[in-house]
Amino acid sequence: MRVLFLASEATPLVKVGGLADVAGELPRALRTLDLDVRLALPFYSSIKESGLEVERIGEASVVHSGGRRGAEVYSSETRGVPVFLIDGAPIRQSEGIYESPEIDVDKFIFFSLAALALCEEIGWQPGIVHANDWHAALSVAWLNAHREGNSFWNEVASVFTLHNLPYMGSDASRVLVDYDVKIADLAHLPPWSRNLPLPIGLATADWLSTVSPSYAKEIQTSEFGHGLEGLLQSRRERLVGILNGIDSEVWNPTQDAALSTTFSYDDIESRVKNKQALQSELGLETDPDVPLLAMVTRLDHQKGVDLVLDALNDVINERWQFILLGTGDSALEGRAEKLSSTHPDRIRFINRFAPKLARRIYGGSDLMIIPSRYEPCGLAQLIAMRYGCIPVVRSTGGLKDTVEDYDSTGQGTGFTFGPAESGALCTAIQRGLNLFGDKATWQELQRRAMMRDFSWQRSAEDYYDLYRRALGERSV
Ligand code: GLC
Repeated sequence: MRVLFLASEATPLVKVGGLADVAGELPRALRTLDLDVRLALPFYSSIKESGLEVERIGEASVVHSGGRRGAEVYSSETRGVPVFLIDGAPIRQSEGIYESPEIDVDKFIFFSLAALALCEEIGWQPGIVHANDWHAALSVAWLNAHREGNSFWNEVASVFTLHNLPYMGSDASRVLVDYDVKIADLAHLPPWSRNLPLPIGLATADWLSTVSPSYAKEIQTSEFGHGLEGLLQSRRERLVGILNGIDSEVWNPTQDAALSTTFSYDDIESRVKNKQALQSELGLETDPDVPLLAMVTRLDHQKGVDLVLDALNDVINERWQFILLGTGDSALEGRAEKLSSTHPDRIRFINRFAPKLARRIYGGSDLMIIPSRYEPCGLAQLIAMRYGCIPVVRSTGGLKDTVEDYDSTGQGTGFTFGPAESGALCTAIQRGLNLFGDKATWQELQRRAMMRDFSWQRSAEDYYDLYRRALGERSV
């Protein structure tokens, strides 16, 4: 079975958010199941400059009102996964990965259509087109509109995976006319959404998936559905939730070169050396008995950074240290900056993208705070557990599906709370701080968290089953 996997970012080539981890790791896991999965990515200037070895494999062109638009296509390989890199004028228009809404909509629609044109050009016929998020949505819409009677595309099925519902792309009406993409039957979409790439993808893909079972249910409600809950309810028989995994080679505390001391669950005692090294690296008092709280995140309303800043004020009389690593919203950056300069003895705000430091934070801190307002899956809690750092999470989406509360089970792997309010978060943090004092129980908790299996294997098998079902429907 051949699968064309389209995404706007994929590790290790290009990463902005969690989508990149999935697009970098899932195709690899699927290939171990003997699927011929190939990744398609825009050939961003950062990839061109990275020194990646590429080979030019051909040209493709897409219909456009100003004359056909040409794409040059290169192939490469990353960690055993073949990659098609799509280049062309709309992609060269921007320096970065994401730019202005107008540039992006043109760039990503061109990318989506050119990737399909390429398959025809080189005669590589996929069974499944698997598109991710709004950037790739038009590939499934195009397929839906054009495959009947087309000998190349007729039996091809589509899967569209949603990683983050509120990011729908911007008004694509002009671009859709330019690229002559006629989309049939969008009557069941709310009128405001009919020109937005993501809703178009949701309405036209054969199958929809999202990255956790809980998020798949949540997006069918008005609280999480962003106005598309009606559409998602109407497609619920076609919507599945498949949890993301983590690559157990990429995230492995027994051999992570970024750590000062590697460790496993059998020698959890040696983990404390990482904590001390981290405290000293960041100029905090190097005391293993002070609970070290951390957050590694995009600074975004979604992630509830504001809730943490408020909650810390409420436990200010307790002993703890706090590290926040990340960039994003400037108002939140300002608030974090202010709080850390008020408490220079115990709070560090590292306002940059620092993947190696992030690993040391997972490997050295005691509690990872993840109070997301919504979380389709979430990666931080999975890495944290693998690295023996106990997650404190809001019970929503993938967080709910992967972290079990300690107190309600006497077992569990973390601390969970319900309402998106700093008070509720504060209570959960407090429970963590209280248990931290009990070393033996804490280590049991760490071991349990580290032993959880979140490898991609199971998810890959679920995608495999979904592909088989989708393909089966096309070939009858
Ligand atoms: C988005 C979501 C996150 C998810 C990731 C990968 O970044 O916000 O929850 O883990 O996509 O699916």
